[in-house]
Amino acid sequence: MPGSEILIIDDYQQLVQFLKERLTAEGYEVRSASTGAEGLAAIAGGFRGLILLDVRLPDTSGLDLFEQVKGIAPDLPVIFITAHATVDLAVEATKRGAFDFIAKGSDLLKRLNVAVKNAFERLALSEQLKTLQTQLDEAGRFNEFLTVSPRMQAILKTLDAVVNSGVTVLIEGESGTGKELIARAIHARGTRKRGPFVAVNCAGIPETLLESEMFGYEKGAFTGATARRIGRFEAAHGGTLFLDEVGELPKALQAKLLRVLQDHVFERVGGTEPVSVDVRVISATNRDLLAEVRRGTFREDLFYRLSVFPVRLLPLRERPEDIPVLAQHFLRRYAREEGKQVAGFTPDALAALMAQPFPGNVRELENLVRHAVILARGRQVTMAEIRNTMGSHRIQTEPAFTPASAAGTSRTLAERVAAAFPDLDSLAPFHEVQAEVLRRAVELASGNVSLASRALQVGRATLYRWQKGRGPAETSDSGGES
Ligand SMILES: Nc1ncnc2c1ncn2[C@@H]1O[C@H](COP(=O)(O)OP(=O)(O)OP(=O)(O)O)[C@@H](O)[C@H]1O
Ligand SMILES: [Mg+2]
Repeated sequence: MPGSEILIIDDYQQLVQFLKERLTAEGYEVRSASTGAEGLAAIAGGFRGLILLDVRLPDTSGLDLFEQVKGIAPDLPVIFITAHATVDLAVEATKRGAFDFIAKGSDLLKRLNVAVKNAFERLALSEQLKTLQTQLDEAGRFNEFLTVSPRMQAILKTLDAVVNSGVTVLIEGESGTGKELIARAIHARGTRKRGPFVAVNCAGIPETLLESEMFGYEKGAFTGATARRIGRFEAAHGGTLFLDEVGELPKALQAKLLRVLQDHVFERVGGTEPVSVDVRVISATNRDLLAEVRRGTFREDLFYRLSVFPVRLLPLRERPEDIPVLAQHFLRRYAREEGKQVAGFTPDALAALMAQPFPGNVRELENLVRHAVILARGRQVTMAEIRNTMGSHRIQTEPAFTPASAAGTSRTLAERVAAAFPDLDSLAPFHEVQAEVLRRAVELASGNVSLASRALQVGRATLYRWQKGRGPAETSDSGGES
């Protein structure tokens, strides 16, 4: 048992015999080695316990042996037993990490008993730490987030530290980089995992409804409020609230959110009674929130409250090595779902995938692979099938669909409009054109509304309004939009 074994490495047989008797009487299991080589062999053989080491050995010096022991079993405590003449050496040894040193003399046994007890306590602690560490390594690894990118892995490693704490985490990253996946993983790993995980999409809910969605309302708060309803904050009590697209939160709600984060209380809409909640907040944004702070559209104090622990997920184009791994993962999933015998990609198909910029990141790759699996005829997805799939995703002759590339395009807006409407007959009513542009943008962005809204440089709320069929004349830009 590691809690009680002692190895004495000393060639002075009388002392060894004496210590053996006394320590055995104290309940320890004691064995001995009379040379450095013999001692080292025992340690290399898996000895886990306390080592009592003589400073002078027939075949080596205690100090040299200590260095070797550290190489094999760095966490084992070593106590040097030393004659008065070699105290300096022993002091040097403790400087290098030995647990203690004890001079041979009249009070040897008394001092030894104390040192041995302390050493075993430390050993127990380090054993405990070791098991905790392995448990943490197993539980804390974000298994569902597949990545072979060393940079991404390093980012995930830092997240291990916060799963069990209640600090707010702000996950920044482009659309489809896996922000929600990470938020769910943090929740699932942490102490709140038995509590609820509640998500609110701050961009997906009309501004007028958002407050009552988040904080609930009292009966009679507004027409139609026939009974009290709790909001997502209360629903998340004891668990995690995921605020998706937090950058879209209107100013008035930013203030209310700040208060919950500071004081853990709020009032339901139409209510006066404070409601207190225990909720961990994880938020996500695909905007540069700090830039929003500088522009004055996002409260600085709230930003710092939300981003106690900030994480930035890398876009897929900055980790192309993840493309084959993810592609294979999605292929397996959708082949199973579709009941198809597709097992992989031909090498040129995979190379084509890796060359894609994927502005919609992992979600776009996932959609693409899903379509390719549906199209696939053989056991491998071919280059032609990938090309066909890409065609339906976005036109390859166009530059990658990002606001940056849209801004950098060489054709002027007038030229682009002229190409789309060569003559008077081709003109259509403006609301139809607008609806078509919108539909096309969402299609080009593989259904990703935030990406489409960024490409069109309108807020998501505006885009949702347009989708509901209201014309541009009515779009009065509200607080959170750019
Ligand atoms: N590393 C990954 N491993 C496996 N699946 C992933 C990974 N990253 C993302 N996905 C998958 O890709 C899809 C998009 O991920 P997610 O919804 O988490 O992205 P997001 O950053 O929240 O996107 P958006 O900003 O558009 O809301 C999901 O189906 C998710 O499961
Ligand atoms: Mg998301």
